[in-house]
Amino acid sequence: MDDQGARAEQAPAGIDTSTAHIARIYDYWLGGKDNFAADRLAAEQVMKATPTVRPGVTSNRAFLGRAVRHMVGQGVTQFVDIGTGIPTAGNTHLVAQALDPASRVVYVDNDPIVLAHARALLTGVSAPTSFVDADVRDTGAILAEAGLLLDLTRPVGLLMIALLHCVPDADDPAGLVTTLMDALPAGSHLAITQPAIDQLPGSMAEAEETLTRTMGYKVTFRTREGVARFFDGYELLDPGVVPIQDWRPDTPPDPSVITGMWGGVARKG
Ligand SMILES: C[S@@+](CC[C@H](N)C(=O)[O-])C[C@H]1O[C@@H](n2cnc3c(N)ncnc32)[C@H](O)[C@@H]1O
Repeated sequence: MDDQGARAEQAPAGIDTSTAHIARIYDYWLGGKDNFAADRLAAEQVMKATPTVRPGVTSNRAFLGRAVRHMVGQGVTQFVDIGTGIPTAGNTHLVAQALDPASRVVYVDNDPIVLAHARALLTGVSAPTSFVDADVRDTGAILAEAGLLLDLTRPVGLLMIALLHCVPDADDPAGLVTTLMDALPAGSHLAITQPAIDQLPGSMAEAEETLTRTMGYKVTFRTREGVARFFDGYELLDPGVVPIQDWRPDTPPDPSVITGMWGGVARKG
């Protein structure tokens, strides 16, 4: 049996491995093993269009860590992380609980393979952590489930890290952000990263088209202004919406790496 056949046999029951899925494509870019032939094909095609995608996703994970550490430093110890992805190093609860072991995280994702890994994700945690199988468009279910674990009268960190490109403008992603943030109190924080259509001219458009074609739904990369609009109404923290590697870096970023991702963090006043 070839490598692909062996992997196909390992697919959890009920998982469609014939179509590429973003969580598994992303896993491949991060060097993980939870991906299948269709995912790897799509991932390789995007890498051809955008050779910096691998350093880009690594940088995206680092942004997640810096954003969460910032929030814990502001006293935020409750998180809703939508678009969790397949568990990997530096998951939100690990970052937050390293600073404050009482930190609680509600993970939300709509991919069955992410759900299949949720049990592994939730082992060895120092404080209650839950996993919600929901689409980001289902804000009512997300808030209801989050309210079971978190105290929604206290500040929450809402994370949408490399998620909103999966929600086309027709589904009003800005409205989803507003609905979720409206349910959270002052002092809550919002962190967003999203692939940029206005970095790496040509290659990002090709990557967007490849993902749309291989995954079978509209993927939307956005401009810096388009991403900044998600933060409208909140206090956008310095340095604003920037290439992710430039958001409060721990060490000077490598100027030769263009990640093709915008990111920012805001505080609700
Ligand atoms: C590119 S991965 C990002 C994973 C993680 N946030 C990170 O940045 O490392 C995008 C994740 O969003 C999830 N996702 C995509 N569309 C979604 C939706 N409509 N509702 C909930 N999750 C979604 C995918 O299943 C995948 O796990």
